[in-house]
Amino acid sequence: AAEADLAGRHVVVSAGGTREPLDPVRYLGNRSSGKQGYALARTAAARGARVTLIAANAALPDPAGVDVVHVGTAVQLREAVLKAAPDADAVVMAAAVADFRPATYAAGKIKKKDGQEPEPIALVRNPDILAEIAGDRARADQVIVGFAAETDDVLANGRAKLERKGCDLLVVNEVGERKTFGAEENEAVVLGADGSETPVPHGPKEALADTVWDLVAPRLGRAAKE
Ligand code: C5P
Repeated sequence: AAEADLAGRHVVVSAGGTREPLDPVRYLGNRSSGKQGYALARTAAARGARVTLIAANAALPDPAGVDVVHVGTAVQLREAVLKAAPDADAVVMAAAVADFRPATYAAGKIKKKDGQEPEPIALVRNPDILAEIAGDRARADQVIVGFAAETDDVLANGRAKLERKGCDLLVVNEVGERKTFGAEENEAVVLGADGSETPVPHGPKEALADTVWDLVAPRLGRAAKE
């Protein structure tokens, strides 16, 4: 990677996992640690970028020299991304965003009732932030990167997802019992809308982050929909 190949650029990275509250003490969440997104933020800053990190519930210290916006839910994450995106040269959506949230929020703690079965939890869809920002670009020359965790048919599902979401690059991970979530290391294939396929061998999340920026850098300033 060139030393400061992101100098003068503004990049927005989302990280962590959203939490969708049920009541004041409970939420639906996921196992994302935020480590991959934080690694993306740190490496972008090291390569000279101005970085806005939108962090959802990651128990990690704010990286030095990075603007951090802390959010909780998918709706809050969307607001923060939409606010930052118009000024961004690249947006990398590394956060695990809940696809659904509870349909209702109970203002008081939900109680168990003697002799009664629990109520089912009704869910509603969350907005798909990645599809939204990729489909309706704040700037035509913006580079938009998504992540996808897949358990099977990783490449075929990844390619279909890249097209569905309309992003420029999609980092596809195979998830399993001990893989990816919370781990220090990652392994992935980065798919490009131009048909490219870049395998990233098992290694530190920093190395995957640098590969993502290696792929983003030459795409910057080029019309996204040529
Ligand atoms: O559809 P799926 O959840 O597998 O897509 C993952 C990618 O889409 C990630 O980049 C994630 O940040 C983004 N996403 C989103 N909004 C959602 C769900 C996922 O931006 N509601």
